[in-house]
Amino acid sequence: MNAGNSSGIWRSIWHEPETGHVRIIDQTRLPHSLETRALKTLADACAAIRDMRVRGAPLIGVTAAFGVYLALRENPASLPSAIDQLRATRPTAVNLCWALARAQRALAGTQESGIAGRALRFAVELAAADAACCAAIGEHGGGVLRGIWQQKNRPDEPLRVLTHCNAGALATVEWGTALAVIHKAAASGIPLHVWVDETRPRNQGAALTCWELRRAGIDHSLIVDSAAGHAMASGLVDVCVTGSDRVSAAGDVCNKIGTYPVALAASDNALPFYVALPVSTIDFDWPSMATPIPIEERDAAEVSQATGIDVNKSETRIRQYPEQTPIRNFAFDITPARLVTGIITEHGVFEANQNSLVALAGDDHRGRVSRMVKP
Ligand code: MRU
Repeated sequence: MNAGNSSGIWRSIWHEPETGHVRIIDQTRLPHSLETRALKTLADACAAIRDMRVRGAPLIGVTAAFGVYLALRENPASLPSAIDQLRATRPTAVNLCWALARAQRALAGTQESGIAGRALRFAVELAAADAACCAAIGEHGGGVLRGIWQQKNRPDEPLRVLTHCNAGALATVEWGTALAVIHKAAASGIPLHVWVDETRPRNQGAALTCWELRRAGIDHSLIVDSAAGHAMASGLVDVCVTGSDRVSAAGDVCNKIGTYPVALAASDNALPFYVALPVSTIDFDWPSMATPIPIEERDAAEVSQATGIDVNKSETRIRQYPEQTPIRNFAFDITPARLVTGIITEHGVFEANQNSLVALAGDDHRGRVSRMVKP
């Protein structure tokens, strides 16, 4: 199984040359069971994204690119319909549309006889680029944590980092975004304790982030989402770091539901709140949070029901609330730029405002990094 690499950082998706299929870690089975699953068709790829067997903004984008390959392998003339079906799987993470637009550009003018092979090469390259990108995010963010650690000047106490949802290797191809920052800081010798928000209702913090941190040997504690403010007000947190699904050109951060209250509590307690993401997560067509974006609302059963292991170690699903209870299951919220201390990207750390982020606009943004935050 290829669900890992030499550095111990997990790879969440890969192509299997022996079968031609794409293989994923099935995240709906974690933390109780580590299982992989083959994606053989476009329908498999769409279902994997929609049912959140793969999730996290960058991984959704890479899975969509592999989905294009699977579609063209079945029918070399199916590009437009494949793009439409993949685009409809989940609405909020902009990396999905970003990856599909790039795939479309890469395949423009390709003969049908070679189009599936070209699509596969594109997806493999996109996956490799995502892994490299996340490693770079980790290096820049590790530098931020080092600065905070030095300023704190308490060698007797670890640096205490609070994170929300899962922005780890499971949400990307390797490393993660917020967790890349944590991995690189840990690897550089900074003692860490990570507070992990449970992240109701799908519990990506409890189920996925804790699983990743345990495997990496990084000290952590799970807390319920509503405890984050208390932990900060009690002096137990030094810095918050999260990922994002879409950032506006003005630096507003759309991320998993519950991120906004974390940022509010951080601001009220004068704690830094950083967001780590690849530039592909910045939507330069979204001017600011004054313009609405699609915020996914998921099935009420995610709130009213829970899955776990019973005393016989069998997986069980239970209903916690009566079926008649009216439920709204908002999957994301938006944190205003004013609450964001800095945006950690593969090109450095930027202020959460338009003047700073504009340096990253367009495909060729390397070298235009003049408005970086001083870590
Ligand atoms: O609904 P999910 O699990 O796909 O949401 C994931 C998040 O909100 C992550 O924090 C975000 O995608 C950043 S992942 C690098």
